[in-house]
Amino acid sequence: MSRKVLLSGVKPTGAPHIGNYFGAMKQFVDLQKEHDGYVFIADYHALNFIQDKEEMKKNIIGILLDYLAIGLDPEKLTIFKQSDIFEHTELAWIFDTFTTMPYLERAHAYKDAKAKNKEINVGTFNYPMLMAADILLYGPDIVPVGQDQKQHVEYARDTAEKFNRIFGETFKLPEPMILKDVAIVLGTDGRKMSKSYNNTIPLFAEYEEIKKCVMSIVTDSSGGIPKNVYAIHKLFRPEDELKKIYAEKSGKYKELKELLIEDLEKFIAPLREKRKEFAKDIPKALKILKAGSEKAKIIASRKMEEVRDKIGVNV
Ligand code: TYM
Repeated sequence: MSRKVLLSGVKPTGAPHIGNYFGAMKQFVDLQKEHDGYVFIADYHALNFIQDKEEMKKNIIGILLDYLAIGLDPEKLTIFKQSDIFEHTELAWIFDTFTTMPYLERAHAYKDAKAKNKEINVGTFNYPMLMAADILLYGPDIVPVGQDQKQHVEYARDTAEKFNRIFGETFKLPEPMILKDVAIVLGTDGRKMSKSYNNTIPLFAEYEEIKKCVMSIVTDSSGGIPKNVYAIHKLFRPEDELKKIYAEKSGKYKELKELLIEDLEKFIAPLREKRKEFAKDIPKALKILKAGSEKAKIIASRKMEEVRDKIGVNV
């Protein structure tokens, strides 16, 4: 029986945090044993947020090192860069031509930006169509993501259905894979962990940074258990163990935070060291990326040939 295929991506918008890791990136590593698939750097999505050449380059190399440091194995999964495969933007355009504005206006990210009276660029508005193209070009069975991407995978699914209906069976319908316990990892202020809320614990933080982040966790004094500390802590210890510790140390917020710092350091230190090793040879990492993009290109261009044929532009 052929192995199932996974596909997912991360935007290179700066240091990933433990929410990205537990919500999605860890699944890439866990699943690579039994799946084939693709993990890519969503740089054209990031261009909506990062419009600075040096920063973009730094972030792309950064996320590549992050992927390698967490244990993504290029022998098992194809690691590639979105902008290397122009088929993504080409297919996104084709999707734009039969997707209606009211349908895209229902996207959470667009609605949030609008509610905040932000000026919205067309790239942000069309974001779900590029993401649909990312996914559908490769026909994955599953798309491991956090809860905040669920709607985007549903857009990809709807778009595949619509294309298939208009032009004939072409795309496989993707399924999101969202793990319940880590669907929304909470940040230091109890809201969803997110770079834009400034409430993150970076996945490769140095010890001093870990300390600073943990000390900044907002604790309310309503009970003995600081719930924001606990919510993060449960990612690193089994809950039955943790419940006992939190009961024993009820009300001792400082001690509990110190224990969380220790547990975070134990978890992060080996990842940090691995990342430093990979960072010593960036040309080697870039070679891995180039080889991955070449592999992905073959699949994407084959699919696009089929799409061009179906829509009638191949004459
Ligand atoms: P991005 O770069 O914002 O986030 C990467 C992954 O991390 C997950 N995530 C979280 N999970 C749980 N708790 C949190 N607090 C948390 N914060 C982030 C995200 O859900 C995501 O899975 N649009 C995507 C990138 C993308 C993509 C794709 C993903 C582009 N094309 C095709 C899958 C398939 C994004 O912005 O993720």
